[in-house]
Amino acid sequence: MNVSDSEVVLSVLQQAGYSLCSKITEASLILVNTCSIRDNAEQKIWSRIDYFKSLKKRRKGLTVGILGCMAERLKERLLEQSVVDIVAGPDSYRDLPHLLNELPGGEKQINTILSLEETYADISPVRMDKNGVSAFISIMRGCNNFCSYCVVPYVRGRERSRNPQSILNEAKELFNNGYKEVTLLGQNVNSFNWRATDQQSSFKEDISFSKLLEMVAQISPQLRVRFSTSHPKDMDDSVLTTMVKYSNICRHIHLPVQSGSDSVLKRMNRKYTRKEYLLRLEKIKKMLPDCTISTDIIAGFCGESEQDHLDTLSVMREAGYYTSFMFQYSQRPDTTAAQQLADDVPPRVKNSRLNEIIALQNELSHISNKADLGNEVEVLVEGFSKRSKAELSGRTSQNKVCIFPAGEHKVGDYVKVKVTSCSSATLKGEVIS
Ligand code: 5AD
Ligand code: SF4
Repeated sequence: MNVSDSEVVLSVLQQAGYSLCSKITEASLILVNTCSIRDNAEQKIWSRIDYFKSLKKRRKGLTVGILGCMAERLKERLLEQSVVDIVAGPDSYRDLPHLLNELPGGEKQINTILSLEETYADISPVRMDKNGVSAFISIMRGCNNFCSYCVVPYVRGRERSRNPQSILNEAKELFNNGYKEVTLLGQNVNSFNWRATDQQSSFKEDISFSKLLEMVAQISPQLRVRFSTSHPKDMDDSVLTTMVKYSNICRHIHLPVQSGSDSVLKRMNRKYTRKEYLLRLEKIKKMLPDCTISTDIIAGFCGESEQDHLDTLSVMREAGYYTSFMFQYSQRPDTTAAQQLADDVPPRVKNSRLNEIIALQNELSHISNKADLGNEVEVLVEGFSKRSKAELSGRTSQNKVCIFPAGEHKVGDYVKVKVTSCSSATLKGEVIS
């Protein structure tokens, strides 16, 4: 989401006459797009701010701005840092040229007003990822779920869906410019809902997420479509039915479970039980047998017992995740958990539980990859492999990284590959001629 937002910022600034430079030491303006989701994400920014102090001593006239969720959360506290000139929250990037113009007057500038509308629909993001194959499209902003541990609803505001016509235009333009894959992004994409009656709309009917997904998939069978993130409580059958209809909608669903224990899920305010989650997975596997599932897991949430932790390990085994994003619980100020629940799992225990979760995930990833040995997969090439220019790297529809000898193939090609070996992280294969 932050990569996507940075592309909006670049677009806004380019229109105001700025251009991107390749070295930070050459920049006259440095903007940092920040994340508040865990404390260590914020700690990284504090050390960056220290580094900017040393840069500013060497470069007269250097302007430093802090953008994103940390700007929204800490507001004036960031401006108190002598090195910070501008603080701009996630909904105020259109205002950046104005804030920059006001600076020479001597006053530091701040805008952290959250919007009730999708604010960037008509901005064409300038892609920063240079592979020219795969791009993010932001389809909604904010979150209404208020999971008890999570700071996102406070720093990104309420859920707002973007005008579907502008999403379709962006996807078509990307495809016409040679892109082969788009990822529809939102904190909770399944609750995308554009109401025809609410706003000026070229659509006569309301547009749900599954309808939007279908319209994007119809742009071309040569355009792969992904989406992230789905909330298990909102992931309904209509999305699965649409996926079955269009083979260019990738066979991968990111479905964060967070915990395998019902009592922890309840304290997290996730609004589903372990059983309901597993039934969802059963339905996915029935309708889309070749679909991979990935997840997010939090270790050591408030009140998590050893048994709760074992329940998380067992849900991972039952789900057979091909990959996971795994975190230690980090208390975030102002959230319900911070206000009402004790952060009572000792750091040492959080750490050892996280390590057990990671070790199990490595095992599961390896099992999932081994199941592909001998299979034929279609890889969309994204670049050279890290090790060698003689090998290309790309992803399968299931979102697995696959490496194979380059031959005549190039970035942006769809290549049929037979999987011949694997590690827990990567598939390796040979081109099927
Ligand atoms: N501590 C640890 N992990 C968190 N996440 C969100 N908030 C926290 C927190 N306070 C994780 C969740 C979410 C992912 C984006 O970040 O797993 O799905
Ligand atoms: Fe945070 Fe929950 Fe919203 Fe995800 S769904 S952004 S975890 S509040």
